[in-house]
Amino acid sequence: MTTALITGATAGLGAAFARRLARDGHHLVLVARNEERLWEEATRLHDRHGVEASVLVADLATDEGISAVEERLGDGDHPVDLLINNAGFGNKGKFLQVPVEDELTMLKVHCEAVLRLTSAAVASMRERGRGGVVNVASVAAFVPRGTYGASKAWVVQFTQGAAKDLAGSGVRLMALCPGFVRTEFHQRAGMDAESVPGWMWLDADAVVGAAVKDLARGKTLSIPDARYKALMGASRLLPRELLARASTKTGRRYGPR
Ligand SMILES: NC(=O)c1ccc[n+]([C@@H]2O[C@H](COP(=O)([O-])OP(=O)(O)OC[C@H]3O[C@@H](n4cnc5c(N)ncnc54)[C@H](OP(=O)(O)O)[C@@H]3O)[C@@H](O)[C@H]2O)c1
Repeated sequence: MTTALITGATAGLGAAFARRLARDGHHLVLVARNEERLWEEATRLHDRHGVEASVLVADLATDEGISAVEERLGDGDHPVDLLINNAGFGNKGKFLQVPVEDELTMLKVHCEAVLRLTSAAVASMRERGRGGVVNVASVAAFVPRGTYGASKAWVVQFTQGAAKDLAGSGVRLMALCPGFVRTEFHQRAGMDAESVPGWMWLDADAVVGAAVKDLARGKTLSIPDARYKALMGASRLLPRELLARASTKTGRRYGPR
């Protein structure tokens, strides 16, 4: 049986990955900050699917947290076959409304942690000649959308570049770019999700289902759902200014700080 390590497994897309991968028979290592929620999730999945589910409490906005997960990924006695770098968040506000230290925290979680955990995982996967990494980015990577979109653009470029460098090694890397997904993300970021039209919302389990399929097909970029595939195709034809106006506004109304 193979083992999957999922960051940000207590909610939203990470929890959906955990459900799906447990159902498919993977042992799990669940990573996030909230220990109680991690254990609830691990116990539930173990009881329902009979897989081993362990918990690693780590704050990926800190060096200690990232190091603890790197160490687990480098444990040759308990190899990790699939890494899902999913933990992430949005800051509450537009550029300059958010303190620079919070922006740096976002870069730490979205970019530094993803770089370091991917490196740690892939080093041992390459030795074994197999393995997979899914780095959760966003369609925000392709449009002007504040510092959040910029951090996710880094995730896409990094993942596709590394996938090319590792071609033929047996290790697959894929950037996952969902549109709006119903999770805790928007509430945590203090965003007014009501301003996003209903048709734009995706279901977390469906997003994960599409991601699993795309990884098996060897894709390096996954944009779940026909609606977003069409939108991203159309966005390449639109004048950049028009695109910037629409993308920087949609779903970016924030409550009081
Ligand atoms: N929802 C969307 O519309 C959407 C769209 C595109 C991409 N995404 C991306 O999808 C990923 C998952 O987001 P989601 O929508 O599922 O959000 P969510 O429901 O808020 O879940 C976020 C997860 O990340 C964990 N997390 C946050 N900060 C962390 C930290 N410093 N260290 C460790 N874990 C941390 C949280 O766990 P704890 O609080 O327990 O630590 C939680 O498990 C993110 O990378 C996000 O950018 C989301």
